[in-house]
Amino acid sequence: QAYNERESLYIVLNFAKDFFAKNLMTEEGKSIGLSYFKERGFNQNIIDKFDLGYALDGWDHLHKAAKAAGHSDELLMKAGLILQKEGDANRFYDRFRGRVTFTIHNLGGKPIGFGARILTQDKKQPKYINSPETEVYHKSDILYGIFQAKKSIREKDNCYLVEGYTDVISLHLAGIENVVASSGTSLTENQIKLIKRFSDNITVLYDGDAAGIRASLRGIDMILEGGLNVKAVVFPDGEDPDSYARKVGSAAFTTYLEKNAQDFISFKIGLYAEEASKDPIKQAELIKQVVQSISKIPDPVIRTVYIRQSANLLEIDEDIIQAELNKIYLKGQ
Ligand code: CTP
Ligand code: MN
Ligand code: MN
Ligand code: MN
Ligand code: MN
Repeated sequence: QAYNERESLYIVLNFAKDFFAKNLMTEEGKSIGLSYFKERGFNQNIIDKFDLGYALDGWDHLHKAAKAAGHSDELLMKAGLILQKEGDANRFYDRFRGRVTFTIHNLGGKPIGFGARILTQDKKQPKYINSPETEVYHKSDILYGIFQAKKSIREKDNCYLVEGYTDVISLHLAGIENVVASSGTSLTENQIKLIKRFSDNITVLYDGDAAGIRASLRGIDMILEGGLNVKAVVFPDGEDPDSYARKVGSAAFTTYLEKNAQDFISFKIGLYAEEASKDPIKQAELIKQVVQSISKIPDPVIRTVYIRQSANLLEIDEDIIQAELNKIYLKGQ
């Protein structure tokens, strides 16, 4: 068998995906992992669709099984599935232990990595442990859920962008399939290009906390720079798309998205409006914020549309916006 390294990685990652799926149906898996998924409202259908699983608690369950199936330590390491013990290069331990697993697929549906969530409230351990960068898993090139979403993104001509694994899954359960997650990291140019293969429209649904709003602002500018159209929906403080969908139910959630999708100018204005209404310095800051985003838009025609719209919304002259834009372009030269 002359497999090249990439092919071997796909095979061993697929083995791990199957192993985690099988473990979910063991006694330990059912009582800990499956019951956790059920509590979150995940049914068998969604578990299969997303290849959710369970990594048994213990140091070498996956390692042993993979060795028995003929996979080498070197390959398991390269796949990010096992780690070398410190100070002992010949001893290894499983990366994912005692956690539920989320399979990360590439665009074609092959497993390329995993995210694994802790089941206890242990604050000393990270909530999620993720696969490292590997030969087949380039984090900045892929989005969680793209394989399951691509058809729907094209059909709906829109892509919802969320932060987390569970947000993607909850939206599918709510009947919304055109959704991908940035997995808690800032959006990259390649990720935006990936979405652009299926649609030019993105709606950002980040968590309703300060971090989520900051991430939305960064994401919006990146998306504009990529030449796509962007909207944003703000959730009540402390809610993320998953928690909110479960709280209000599918129908109300879908309506909420439709009613609250704002273009990026209204979104920015909404964030700063209250402060800006009382304070001329804040008002100037707001105008600069809006112009900053407009300056990212590569297409001059679309830019003109937004200049007009923001002038209306901010109740100022278009010339002022144009002058601010010119300042930014001069600085950029
Ligand atoms: N994340 C991560 N490592 C962490 C925390 C978060 O990789 N320690 C990533 C995960 O992809 C996670 C996303 O960031 O899905 C969003 O983080 P967060 O909002 O904290 O988690 P949720 O997805 O909402 O998870 P849950 O609902 O299970 O708490
Ligand atoms: Mn790459
Ligand atoms: Mn969050
Ligand atoms: Mn969240
Ligand atoms: Mn959540």
